[in-house]
Amino acid sequence: MTAHRPTTATATAAGQEGDGPIVVVDDVRHSFGSGAQAVHALRGVSFEVRRGELTALRGRSGSGKTTLLNLVGGLDTPAAGRITLDGTDLASLDEAGLLALRRDRIGFVFQSFGLIPVLSAAENVGIPMRLRRVPAREREERARTLLALVGLADHAEQRPGELSGGQQQRVAVARALANDPDLIIADEPTGQLDLETGRSIMELLRAVVRGKGVTILVATHDPNLIELADRVVELRDGRIVTPGPDAAPPAGA
Ligand SMILES: Nc1ncnc2c1ncn2[C@@H]1O[C@H](COP(=O)(O)OP(=O)(O)OP(=O)(O)O)[C@@H](O)[C@H]1O
Ligand SMILES: [Mg+2]
Repeated sequence: MTAHRPTTATATAAGQEGDGPIVVVDDVRHSFGSGAQAVHALRGVSFEVRRGELTALRGRSGSGKTTLLNLVGGLDTPAAGRITLDGTDLASLDEAGLLALRRDRIGFVFQSFGLIPVLSAAENVGIPMRLRRVPAREREERARTLLALVGLADHAEQRPGELSGGQQQRVAVARALANDPDLIIADEPTGQLDLETGRSIMELLRAVVRGKGVTILVATHDPNLIELADRVVELRDGRIVTPGPDAAPPAGA
């Protein structure tokens, strides 16, 4: 077990490969607006996401969870600080580089599912593969495999409106897995679901981490779901308040 380093200003590209953390967030600050109206959403956030773990980002509404996930996912650029994914400094990528990173390395799951209503479940799962120009037949096959993985083998042809909320979120998880990402970023994936359904989605994410070795960073303020995480990072008013290494035991310990 290596000593815990709260900040990682010395992390280098080479040092991040293999067993190192997949995501390193180093002293990240971010604000919205300017002057007296400025909202300081993140006020110097540093933490790491370890490879192959389910990390929960906890904090009450407005604490900065979505802001942080958007920055880690390359959907927005921090005002200050550094974010690396597998050793790549996101600031070193241009718009096309970020687009490719989001398409090829990251899967996103949102609270509102974000499925396209006129497409079937299988077609929705196929979208990220389309962006990569995967041939139709291969897309179709893989979509079905992924839908089976999330327990929806018999629902491939149904449209989102013909599925329950929990089923829709399962489709979204299958879609997030489409391009075999290294990292799944999920923003309150259970926020629109009842407790029991929400729990089954978290258990699905848990199973994805175990079965596929994918790393997941999930924002939630549902205390009942936190216990399924390997690690918990807590945000309060734009700052991390979690004690470092002992926040949760490592998986399998
Ligand atoms: N586009 C924006 N413009 C202005 N302020 C914003 C914007 N996005 C977020 N904020 C502000 O930044 C702070 C952090 O918001 P954020 O959405 O990251 O919180 P959150 O932890 O995700 O909350 P929730 O649990 O409600 O989703 C809040 O004060 C919010 O009002
Ligand atoms: Mg949010």
